Amino acid sequence: MTSDPQPTPVPAASGPSHASDASPNDPVVDGRPGRLADVAAEVAATLEATATVTDDTEERAAIAASIPGADAHTPLAQAVAADARKRITLSGRTIPRPARTRILTVANQKGGVGKTTTTVNIAAALAQAGSTVLVVDLDPQGNASTALGVDHHAEVPSIYDVLVDGDPLDGVVRPCPDIPRLLCAPATIDLAGAEIELVSLVARETRLQKAVSAYVERRTAAGDPLDYVLVDCPPSLGLLTVNAFVAATEVFIPIQCEYYALEGLSQLLKNIELIRSHLNPALHVSTILLTMFDARTRLSAQVAEEVRTHFSAQTLKATVPRSVRISEAPSHGQTVITYDPNSSGALSYLEAAVELAERGVAATTEESA
Ligand SMILES: Nc1ncnc2c1ncn2[C@@H]1O[C@H](COP(=O)(O)OP(=O)(O)OP(=O)(O)O)[C@@H](O)[C@H]1O
Ligand SMILES: [Mg+2]
Repeated sequence: MTSDPQPTPVPAASGPSHASDASPNDPVVDGRPGRLADVAAEVAATLEATATVTDDTEERAAIAASIPGADAHTPLAQAVAADARKRITLSGRTIPRPARTRILTVANQKGGVGKTTTTVNIAAALAQAGSTVLVVDLDPQGNASTALGVDHHAEVPSIYDVLVDGDPLDGVVRPCPDIPRLLCAPATIDLAGAEIELVSLVARETRLQKAVSAYVERRTAAGDPLDYVLVDCPPSLGLLTVNAFVAATEVFIPIQCEYYALEGLSQLLKNIELIRSHLNPALHVSTILLTMFDARTRLSAQVAEEVRTHFSAQTLKATVPRSVRISEAPSHGQTVITYDPNSSGALSYLEAAVELAERGVAATTEESA
């Protein structure tokens, strides 16, 4: 199971496919009248070559650092300056692809903390930067399917058919209409009954794992590997979430920056430990993302500090602000990455996706060292 471990360059402008006849306006190249098409092709080739070899991270960081800071008493100006820095640092930047398919379960049994929002936006940011990403919607509410613009009415082949009937994922996976390389296995309302139906089935905890690993292997063998699988869990620790934990190697926990944020987290960690010791020794919490961060409140800062104290290695530096654009995007069947790419919410998710990707590559390099 290998995929191209090289950074994926942002697609460069492609040149015209054929040269047209010279026109009086065409420039002179090497002392003879050139064809605009030839010149354009040459420029496109140069751009493409530059895109594959240039790592301009330091240059971008220097430009971003040169933006003046704002007075601490003008939070709006501070936010604008911070967004401008992110835009310069992130837009069009290359994101490394993992050497192997990374399977992450996005979980937190607390409701409404940003699991689905995080799943779809991180997936969209990774796919837009060149990775191939599958989102598995494991919540009967079907919110991830809605946000990705993927139909999930009752008759659609869905993750229920995979879990309960043992159908392969191939017939269920649909492309997201807005972003190439972003795929979704939708959830329909049928999934609400699966929690009970699974109880009496054989190998009830490993059904998703079998389906996902078979799909990953088939795609890898076909030369079109997945880079990431993100599983969006329901707000419970039932059999659906257990299936997600068994299928994954990494747990990604979004934590909402509010008073009860850490309540219930110990229960989640205990469950992960149980799965680790009985069903999936590879499972570990690799990533924590602070969501709905409100820079104007001390409470958000306190929660963030507490989480960073307890989980310093896992918590991403990027935090996601509370943002109207993020909450509006699903009603348009979109992620905020396409709905408003320059908004602070989109930039934060892009920043988090870059960090997630870079950490994965660093971990693989350490493993193989
Ligand atoms: N950063 C944000 N800013 C503003 N609103 C947000 C943000 N993140 C999520 N929301 C909104 O908060 C609500 C809950 O988010 P979301 O559905 O992602 O949480 P969840 O953990 O998946 O919920 P559930 O437990 O029901 O599955 C949604 O209405 C979403 O649009
Ligand atoms: Mg959800």
